Amino acid sequence: MTAVRVAVLASGGGTNLQALLDALPGEPAALARVVRVISNRPDAGALERARRGGVPTTVLKHPDDAAELLTALGDAQLVVLAGYLKLIPADVVARFRGRMINIHPALLPDFGGPGMYGHHVHEAVLASGATESGVTVHFVDEAFDRGAIIAQMRVPVKQGDTPDTLATRVLAAEHQLLPKVVLDLATRIR
Ligand code: GRF
Repeated sequence: MTAVRVAVLASGGGTNLQALLDALPGEPAALARVVRVISNRPDAGALERARRGGVPTTVLKHPDDAAELLTALGDAQLVVLAGYLKLIPADVVARFRGRMINIHPALLPDFGGPGMYGHHVHEAVLASGATESGVTVHFVDEAFDRGAIIAQMRVPVKQGDTPDTLATRVLAAEHQLLPKVVLDLATRIR
């Protein structure tokens, strides 16, 4: 049986991509394999990680163009948004419904939606006085951070936390949860 073909979309440094590359060995017999990394930013650190891992990359000229994104996704069977900051065009969501997931650094449905990314999320969590935060992996639909939740992992909010210290704790949980969810979905897709 061939590995499930996974495409990863990323706009930033790519530590979640790295967690996937480390968890999904490249050999064909594997359950899943990252076959393409796509970004809306030519300077995204994720692209450098992909190249180091021998994974083909694409930089989108028009991230809002469904045809361009569908071409870049090619024959991917599972699509992972890992720090991708652009809204996915509706035609692409429709084509990959139930096979496109996103990771968000908070416990959705709270602290999600337009503008809620990176340190903005952790600032909002700390300002709310919440005693715990975490990570959510969910299916992608036509709106930011609204699709059905697949899995969550909780982390404590500690006395004296700053957005950076909380982000670091949440990111460590992300790197554990994302490969687990991808492997589980790949088992169902294969
Ligand atoms: C992660 O916190 C992810 O949850 C969010 O964007 C960040 C990306 O980090 N959507 P990285 O680029 O994977 O390091």
